[in-house]
Amino acid sequence: MKILTVDLGDRSYPIYIGSGVLKNFDIVKRYIRSKQILIVTNETIAPLYLQSLMNGLSDYQVESIVLPDGEQFKNLTITNRIFDALLENKFNRSATLIALGGGVIGDITGFAAACYQRGVNFIQIPTTLLSQVDSSVGGKTGVNHALGKNMIGAFYQPQCVIADTDVLNTLDDRELSAGIAEVIKYGLIRDQAFFEWLEKNLNKLLERDKDALAYAIERSCLNKAEVVAEDEKESGLRAILNLGHTFGHAIETGCGYGVYLHGEAVAIGTCQAADLSRRLGWLNDQDVERIVQVFKHAQLPVTPPIELNEQQFMDLMAVDKKNINGEIRLVLLKAIGLAPLPLNVDSELLKQTLNYYGR
Ligand SMILES: NC(=O)c1ccc[n+]([C@@H]2O[C@H](COP(=O)([O-])OP(=O)(O)OC[C@H]3O[C@@H](n4cnc5c(N)ncnc54)[C@H](O)[C@@H]3O)[C@@H](O)[C@H]2O)c1
Ligand SMILES: [Zn+2]
Repeated sequence: MKILTVDLGDRSYPIYIGSGVLKNFDIVKRYIRSKQILIVTNETIAPLYLQSLMNGLSDYQVESIVLPDGEQFKNLTITNRIFDALLENKFNRSATLIALGGGVIGDITGFAAACYQRGVNFIQIPTTLLSQVDSSVGGKTGVNHALGKNMIGAFYQPQCVIADTDVLNTLDDRELSAGIAEVIKYGLIRDQAFFEWLEKNLNKLLERDKDALAYAIERSCLNKAEVVAEDEKESGLRAILNLGHTFGHAIETGCGYGVYLHGEAVAIGTCQAADLSRRLGWLNDQDVERIVQVFKHAQLPVTPPIELNEQQFMDLMAVDKKNINGEIRLVLLKAIGLAPLPLNVDSELLKQTLNYYGR
């Protein structure tokens, strides 16, 4: 088992990573304040992991709520069901919420914990690779609004994160690959040695080798924790975690949610960011080829959808949270392992990238 710390002063918390860490109930118990626990999960994960966790915590007053599965349920109406459950069970400020699920469950539960009685403790038990390496760490919580994704939310840190590689055995291949896209991102933005490790060890991740997964999760969380510790509320450095995401969000929205998984759209978007970095003279052809090959090897798409044209891309990218005064700002790469802060780019070069389908 590996333990990392997200260093945020009196809100610091540990991340436990390894095979079987979820079965070691002493870990989770350390972060529970009173007898009152509400486990939030969904109908896919509940039959797999809920009963075992409830059994492990049977000396507490454990309640559970099983939400419908899907990004379309990450909204205020569903969050209200969590408040209903907390109030119906007369849970007070010392109650603990446990998020047992992927990023959707983690984001909703964290947000509910931030709001209930102005803040109760919560524990993240992420069950997808994406949530283990990304969404469970860093304290961004929230839900979607009909007019925008993740528009209602709070920065609210958990008491701990428990990332068990064993739960990834039930995840489907496509979801696993989508998580690998975010893993590759950490190598590209600030960890060249990790990128090189990924070039050599991707097969092990795809085969769900426990040690390789634990290493990739650890190294990803380490990078994320360092960035978050430096810039918790995203006033600067944290924006580099958005490599590939401005293009990626445009693809997700433009093609309609559900066509591409988030990680798939990020893979394509990162290849576009690499292409633009080459046009700026920052990366060379060989760097771009290495990046594209890693994503392809991870069974991820690398070419933008033909149905999205340049104008649609530009319109969709214009609503990105990083933009200032309506100008598109992008995270690009100076080199493999080095992403500077987001910047404005020459729109002619950007258009060339948007019209490039050559891979
Ligand atoms: N807070 C952040 O910093 C942050 C960062 C990145 C993404 N996110 C959010 O995370 C969400 C995406 O997260 P995700 O990719 O984990 O998606 P998800 O939560 O929808 O999970 C993907 C699918 O896998 C299923 N699943 C989860 N664990 C499983 C397991 N162990 N075995 C079998 N099936 C399992 C889920 O039920 C779901 O159907 C988005 O809403 C996104 O906005 C948040
Ligand atoms: Zn992402």
